[in-house]
Amino acid sequence: MKISASFLSSENVPETLVKLNDTDVDFIHVDVLDGKFVPKIKTMPFRQMKHIYEYTDKRLDVHLMVENPKKYISKFATLNTEYITIHEEIEDVEEALSLIHSYGIKAGLSLKLETPVEAVVPYLADLDLILIMAVEPGRGGQQFEKEAIEKVNELKKVLKKYHAKAVISVDGGITEEVSKKLGKADILVSGSFITEEDDFQKQIDALRK
Ligand code: DX5
Ligand code: ZN
Repeated sequence: MKISASFLSSENVPETLVKLNDTDVDFIHVDVLDGKFVPKIKTMPFRQMKHIYEYTDKRLDVHLMVENPKKYISKFATLNTEYITIHEEIEDVEEALSLIHSYGIKAGLSLKLETPVEAVVPYLADLDLILIMAVEPGRGGQQFEKEAIEKVNELKKVLKKYHAKAVISVDGGITEEVSKKLGKADILVSGSFITEEDDFQKQIDALRK
């Protein structure tokens, strides 16, 4: 099980990134909010994000909670980015996925809580990752919604049926208890469970157990 650490609810982002860099976390999950797809909250602006390599050499797992991802894709393509994930609920999903691939970056598709698993089927051939949201996108520290467990299990079956290669990631409200029920996921995205405790590595180990 890989772990992707979100810093969305951190007060001191540079300090959090430096501390995470000393752990064996697999990715840094970068949440991007546009104020349209989700309400705008204070996050690291891209002019600061450009210097993220000063704080971390981990690969980035970028989650674009935005209506129009094009400009963000070209910006994040210049960083140490492993995945860029867009939302299924926006227009021009296909166009955005091919733009991500045009930079040689792996492409992900995220489903909000109310979006059914079948929504991924038309895009399967183009997907490297599917991100199942377990909270309403937009804020850290929310409670995990249990229906995400069933969605992950269902998605695993769909991927098998279509011989699809995408990995399954789950985002929002992840705790040690919840992680035990997500054995079919490949990546868990976790923010507050890791960053609200002093010993980040201990929290990461607990999620991997
Ligand atoms: C929610 C974000 C998540 C969130 C995870 O909209 O996409 O990445 O920050 O944080 P926790 O683990 O605190 O729910
Ligand atoms: Zn996220």
